[in-house]
Amino acid sequence: MPTKKELQCFLDVATEAAMAGGAVLKQYWGNLSSIQEKGRSGDLVTEADRASEAEVLAVIGRHYPNHAILAEESGQLGQRDSPLLWAIDPLDGTTNYAHQYPLCAVSIGLLVAGVPTIGVVYNPILEELYRAARGLGATHNRQQMQVSTTAKLTNSLLVTGFAYDRRETIDNNYAEFCHFTHLTQGVRRGGSASVDLAHVASGRLDGYWERGLSPWDLAAGVVLVTEAGGRVSAYDGQPFDIYSGKLVATNGPLHQPIVQQLAQVQPLPQFEPV
Ligand code: IPD
Ligand code: CA
Ligand code: CA
Repeated sequence: MPTKKELQCFLDVATEAAMAGGAVLKQYWGNLSSIQEKGRSGDLVTEADRASEAEVLAVIGRHYPNHAILAEESGQLGQRDSPLLWAIDPLDGTTNYAHQYPLCAVSIGLLVAGVPTIGVVYNPILEELYRAARGLGATHNRQQMQVSTTAKLTNSLLVTGFAYDRRETIDNNYAEFCHFTHLTQGVRRGGSASVDLAHVASGRLDGYWERGLSPWDLAAGVVLVTEAGGRVSAYDGQPFDIYSGKLVATNGPLHQPIVQQLAQVQPLPQFEPV
């Protein structure tokens, strides 16, 4: 476990990198000349994703040239055997960004020996900065933040998302979406997993589940939620694995109810391919 001073340094570097990436996202906002699909229908990449990632990598590489990096657009970089791994999404919520829907963020997490330890999520469009370090608490725009106290599903507002493979898999999360829409005050689809997690951490939303995620979508957000007093786990309530792609994150009181309901979801009829 790093010392408090080391944690503070990691958090400051993650913040500097997120702000640098965020400045690029502000420049390109509404000014994109290139929007491409990465392979799967709907999985977009723009020049803003790439330029933001270059800025983030430059800041982290300048401070920590010996750390390992897993970045969405560049893949694995740096010293692969380092116990310190930065998981970077330079633009989480590219579809929103391309449509100028302002839920998007730079998401930067640091895993120490596999444990999510630092999380910074910065939405440069709404100027919202979420930060957390393991054992040091979590902040929203530099003010301490906490999860909600909602204790009943019937009083809750949840959030989820749908991965880009949703048209090719039976496990597309549509049945879960209907199930929880029926049981709660509503289920939002934010379009940026890191912002969804930041909203659970700040108490705006009470819980989140999703499948088909990548480590860079989650690494920062899980630190925000746990440090704000919430819980994270696999769908079955067991410890979650950042490489599994599946996560439940809640305010705590709703964790067991959501895990129990996930186990009871019934399949829906399949949609025709489009
Ligand atoms: C996506 C967003 C979205 C989630 C997808 C992610 P991207 O990330 O986080 O909310 O539902 O699974 O891939 O492609 O915008 O970086
Ligand atoms: Ca993402
Ligand atoms: Ca991305």
